Amino acid sequence: MKIAVLAGDGIGPEIIAQALKVLRVLADDGLKIELEEAPFGGAGYDAEGDPLPARTLALAKAADAVLCGAVGGPKYDALPRPQRPEQGILRIRKELGLFANLRPAVLYPELVGASSLKPEVVSGLDIMILRELTGDIYFGEPRGRGENASGEREGYDTMRYSESEIRRIVEIGFQTAKKRSNKLCSVDKENVLETSRFWREIVVDVARKYPDVALTHMYVDNAAMQLVRNPRQFDVIVTGNMFGDILSDEASMLTGSIGMLPSASLDANGKGLYEPIHGSAPDIAGKNVANPLATILSSAMMLRYTFNKDEWAYRIEAAVKKVLAEGCRTADIFEDGTRKMGTAEMGDAVVAAL
Ligand code: IPM
Ligand code: MG
Repeated sequence: MKIAVLAGDGIGPEIIAQALKVLRVLADDGLKIELEEAPFGGAGYDAEGDPLPARTLALAKAADAVLCGAVGGPKYDALPRPQRPEQGILRIRKELGLFANLRPAVLYPELVGASSLKPEVVSGLDIMILRELTGDIYFGEPRGRGENASGEREGYDTMRYSESEIRRIVEIGFQTAKKRSNKLCSVDKENVLETSRFWREIVVDVARKYPDVALTHMYVDNAAMQLVRNPRQFDVIVTGNMFGDILSDEASMLTGSIGMLPSASLDANGKGLYEPIHGSAPDIAGKNVANPLATILSSAMMLRYTFNKDEWAYRIEAAVKKVLAEGCRTADIFEDGTRKMGTAEMGDAVVAAL
């Protein structure tokens, strides 16, 4: 199993180093993996003038899975858009056809105090946000700058979805719901947007194949509100690229820290890119304080979704639960009475628990 490792920028290299420690322990135990690193994001720009250098893309294409840290940083903010680190991640998603983004928001019982919501509202939370990742206003054309009829400058992007793009993500939504509690909530803005009206039509059509799944529809503004009012009403949420971007950040905070949440971005054949949902956190980069658990848990998702190695994934997840139960905490999830530790120490704790 060949894994391309793209550490990226900011805290990326530190957190990836911890996930690699964990994977190497499993390799010593018989998991057959091959790891190869390449520059990506700002690091790609520094090395080759391109956030997704040709050799990095070639490696990612040749690999069975891609493990990513994070990209971006103030150093790159002034670059023209094609050179910005974010373009690296957007292009790799598109190039590899990674249209299905799974973003679980799970609250570990030990972290209930770290959530922004009261324990009685949030304990036991376990949501799966399924975000479409290669369409929508992120990629829609035309986009650009120009002048309107009265000669005023303007900027524009295009929200658009084709039928096949909607069908394939919605199918995965229903299949995911079937594996969990048979509940699917499709989030759109059907009261305003034509794209959303079309989205909803397709969802209703696909639903006919899944009579056992209880389907609901919700406007995205209401969904944002319901997520903080009563998040446990949700099980699987399926939505478009931009709404999913926003709602998944919101949902992450319910779980105590964005530093805890992994993600998987899958193509039609189960190949995937795995990354924490948080960013590169330039303010804490290189300080050994970032939480590596989202990245470690991303490697567990990789073993489960791409390699079908459920037991190995489970071992990683159990080790993470164990260190949390033992009171190990990085700064973002620290509370009185627990043990504060750095990025590397948390990685070592997970290795010890393994
Ligand atoms: C995410 C990020 C990216 C996105 C950025 C870095 C391009 O926010 O993965 O959620 O908007 O998709
Ligand atoms: Mg985001």
